[in-house]
Amino acid sequence: MTASGEEGVFTMPSYENEPLRLAMQENTDKKQVQQIFASIAPAYDCPATRFFPFCADRLVNYVRPKPGSKVLDVATGTGAVAVPFAQAIGASGRVTAVDFSTGMLDRAEANIRKMALDNVDLHEMDAERLDFRSNYFHTVVCSYGLFFLPDMPGALREWVRVLRPGGKLAFTSFEETAFQPMLDDFVARLQAYGVKLPDGPFGPRRIASLEHCRELLHDAGLVEVAAECEQIGYHLSDENDWWEVVSGTAIRALFDQLADDRKDAFRTEHLAWVAAQKTGNGLWLDVQTRFASGIKPAASS
Ligand SMILES: C[S@@+](CC[C@H](N)C(=O)[O-])C[C@H]1O[C@@H](n2cnc3c(N)ncnc32)[C@H](O)[C@@H]1O
Repeated sequence: MTASGEEGVFTMPSYENEPLRLAMQENTDKKQVQQIFASIAPAYDCPATRFFPFCADRLVNYVRPKPGSKVLDVATGTGAVAVPFAQAIGASGRVTAVDFSTGMLDRAEANIRKMALDNVDLHEMDAERLDFRSNYFHTVVCSYGLFFLPDMPGALREWVRVLRPGGKLAFTSFEETAFQPMLDDFVARLQAYGVKLPDGPFGPRRIASLEHCRELLHDAGLVEVAAECEQIGYHLSDENDWWEVVSGTAIRALFDQLADDRKDAFRTEHLAWVAAQKTGNGLWLDVQTRFASGIKPAASS
């Protein structure tokens, strides 16, 4: 990935991939997530999933980064958050964006070039093991990424480590109603087709509520903790747009567990059910999103 324009950010003179490889060898959950994003990267930036950039714009308003500040975007994906933050902080500021999926980062690089931004550095890095100096960034953000990490409290502590005292950390996650009722039908039908789902909450459900968001931030040592919900949904045209949402998000990983010879039948049945949910405006895509933030107290290191 692109070399940093800012040498001072690193704990080592230059970033090497060895720590990432070691972390990945240890953790099969992470490898699975990495494989999922390798396969969805080509379909990620599509019109049906425009809630990603919509959410990123809201996150800029929520955080209000100062011009000239240093921002870390964790789990940047294709750069949906890095781009509007880079625009908001201006040429004297810098966004450092990390992800562990090279497929997503390649897209991010193209998106950043398309927007003619030269204040963004991309790095292939594990969100749970940052190779950055302590107390460096004015702002740390992560949109729709925290719930993919096996150790959410540990990851937050790591993000707080690299945040300056007085700096703000903010993350977003999906509310339970997001993608409903289509997602419930999708999951129930997959189970009826014999797909075994993980025991207990998985994916976005690992963050249960606004209260849980606040708890995670408090436990990471932050103060002035806040969390609120915002609806950033919109109407899709039809069931084919919904299938674009499935294909361009991690929901697709569940479908990929079906045997190849059963996929067509499943898709046809599920999309017939989805088509029946349309109203005169099309198909409502609920994207109720939680925005949570906290400040690193002046005394912490
Ligand atoms: C749903 S995408 C969100 C991307 C972006 N923040 C956005 O809002 O569009 C989740 C991203 O988290 C990344 N990710 C998941 N686990 C990670 C980890 N352990 N380290 C780094 N990135 C990770 C994935 O590769 C993927 O790009």
